[in-house]
Amino acid sequence: MAQARCPLPSLLLVLVAVVLLVPRAAGYPWQVCGNTGSFTANSTYQANLALLAIALPKNISSSPDLFATTIVGAIPELVSALALCRGDANATTCSACLVTAFQDVQNVCSLDRSAAIYYDPCILYYSNDDSFLSSADNVASASTNRINLRNVTSDPARFNRLVGALVNATAEYAAYNSTRRYASGEADFDQEYPKVYSWAQCTPDLTPAQCRVCLAGIIAEMPRLFTDRVGGRVLGIRCSYRYEVFSFLNSPVMVQLAAESGNSGSPTPAMGPTSVTPSAAGGGEY
Ligand SMILES: *[C@@H]1O[C@H](CO)[C@@H](O)[C@H](O)[C@H]1NC(C)=O
Ligand SMILES: *[C@@H]1O[C@H](CO)[C@@H](O)[C@H](O)[C@H]1NC(C)=O
Ligand SMILES: *[C@@H]1O[C@H](CO)[C@@H](O)[C@H](O)[C@H]1NC(C)=O
Ligand SMILES: *[C@@H]1O[C@H](CO)[C@@H](O)[C@H](O)[C@H]1NC(C)=O
Ligand SMILES: *[C@@H]1O[C@H](CO)[C@@H](O)[C@H](O)[C@H]1NC(C)=O
Ligand SMILES: *[C@@H]1O[C@H](CO)[C@@H](O)[C@H](O)[C@H]1NC(C)=O
Repeated sequence: MAQARCPLPSLLLVLVAVVLLVPRAAGYPWQVCGNTGSFTANSTYQANLALLAIALPKNISSSPDLFATTIVGAIPELVSALALCRGDANATTCSACLVTAFQDVQNVCSLDRSAAIYYDPCILYYSNDDSFLSSADNVASASTNRINLRNVTSDPARFNRLVGALVNATAEYAAYNSTRRYASGEADFDQEYPKVYSWAQCTPDLTPAQCRVCLAGIIAEMPRLFTDRVGGRVLGIRCSYRYEVFSFLNSPVMVQLAAESGNSGSPTPAMGPTSVTPSAAGGGEY
């Protein structure tokens, strides 16, 4: 009978452990509340933010590259903001995403003078410190990353090399071959995961070189963050990337890596738009 004593407690322990391992599962969208102080209810700062919340979703949908920056008010009640939609989003989705972003962020970061919030189709950042508007770097305190905790099992070393090369090639294309500083990519892997998909994007006001530097900075974190992981993303207000073993893109793939032959050498990027029908997104246990 000794065995009958502990199944329930140990089952609970396992459940607690599993829950702790996936703390972000219900976290979408991802906000990073700021550290630049707070404002009071009904203040001029809040009124300026409310003006932004009306104007920015309208303005961004009339911008051809779905990007907008703006300043409302004067110091010390100045609010500056940046909004960017993903390269494969349309104006309707973009504008709706920003309306939601302003609503959500004011609930989760309610009285913070600065905050970032990240969705699949859009990002929004605002701050009382407008220095980010003239910077080509991500605001470190507003950046975040997401890791899919599932590990690749079949050939991790080759998977890591492939993902590194794919994200690199996607970053290269976004910086140098797209005026919108956006690219999507795809590579073949193996039977466990036939395809790996990627995305990289900068704000379109960056020069190609600035965009590449920004992306290189966050790509350098890949070994630390994503070794063996089947998916991940680093999100910043100036540049971001993501990779997954399922398709999450709404546009034709722009970068295609040829399959790696043998175990040595890196895959050769074969660039140029190709028409690939995106499959429905699956997985994504963030
Ligand atoms: C802010 O204004 C609203 C509506 O006028 C009011 O209900 C609320 O009490 C005010 N809050 C503060 C802190 O003044
Ligand atoms: C929105 O765009 C209009 C026209 O370009 C501009 O006058 C206005 O200042 C913008 N508003 C904001 C909040 O960006
Ligand atoms: C915009 O994109 C959304 C999501 O992909 C899609 O459902 C919608 O039909 C698109 N709207 C237009 C006008 O293309
Ligand atoms: C995945 O791999 C990492 C690093 O090797 C390890 O720490 C982690 O426990 C593994 N996670 C799972 C779910 O297997
Ligand atoms: C990505 O590109 C950088 C700069 O060109 C290079 O140093 C790095 O080795 C590349 N990484 C991979 C995995 O290809
Ligand atoms: C990408 O840009 C580079 C540098 O401008 C150019 O040499 C290359 O041909 C372009 N590739 C594609 C596929 O457009």
